[in-house]
Amino acid sequence: MNIINGKEIAAKTNEETKKIINELNLKPGLAIVLVGNNPASEIYVKNKIESCKNIGINARLYRFDENNREEDIITCIKELNDDDRIHGIIVQSPVPEKFNEDYINSFVNLDKDVDGFGIYNMGALATNKTKFLAATPKGIIKMLEDTGINVAGKNIVIIGRSKIVGRPLALALLNMDATVTIAHSKTKDLKSVTKNADILIVAIGVANYITADYIKDGAIIVDVGINRINEKITGDVDFDSVKDKVSFITPVPGGVGPMTIASLLRNTTESAKNFKMNRRD
Ligand code: GUN
Repeated sequence: MNIINGKEIAAKTNEETKKIINELNLKPGLAIVLVGNNPASEIYVKNKIESCKNIGINARLYRFDENNREEDIITCIKELNDDDRIHGIIVQSPVPEKFNEDYINSFVNLDKDVDGFGIYNMGALATNKTKFLAATPKGIIKMLEDTGINVAGKNIVIIGRSKIVGRPLALALLNMDATVTIAHSKTKDLKSVTKNADILIVAIGVANYITADYIKDGAIIVDVGINRINEKITGDVDFDSVKDKVSFITPVPGGVGPMTIASLLRNTTESAKNFKMNRRD
């Protein structure tokens, strides 16, 4: 068993991003729109702001609650679209059910859609032309590449079909010539599907769900889960159960999590670079 050390790869990625920022001579700006008070989102957003600060990105937080109207959030996004100091805009997911998250995301200028959740970037991904790949899929692909794992021709099973992970990741891996299967809560006989996987990517949201009997010998496991059990953070994969059967595995914590943030920082920086190159002054 080999550990894919996300923390280490993220640190290396962040050093490269820092170098790009220093050469840019422009401070990238990221606007984070947070709606409601989801406790997990509060932690993720705090981490994103802290990471921005550490690397030299200006992060601004815009808070809304259940009493706001959808138009208030959309007006804020439109103002941020026109703000030259802002190069990336993200709407932290999930937003409360009262609001239409996809509709809100559709107002983010596609050149500032650093999460890639807007309709244009999602559609463009289907034809391999997206401007920004969502942070978690981008981070997972970077981890695999850095480990020397070539995905072309591999059977890759992704459990989970969310807008944040499963869907964009499946398209991105397909664009890299992998044979991709998406499994989800309605999939029949999940084990028979996952046992075929050369690479199994798990984003279920249930602690320790995947055990040794779900995987084949030598499989590569990417665990996207972040579950809190008695203050301890655990993935969706039962690490102890699978560890002697896998060739590579990402740990939780210290796996996909740091890569997601590193990818957001990189997308924001690339966006700032694009804005600078296209400015006519
Ligand atoms: N919620 C969980 N992960 C993410 C992410 O990568 N971006 C946004 N906007 N919301 C999230």
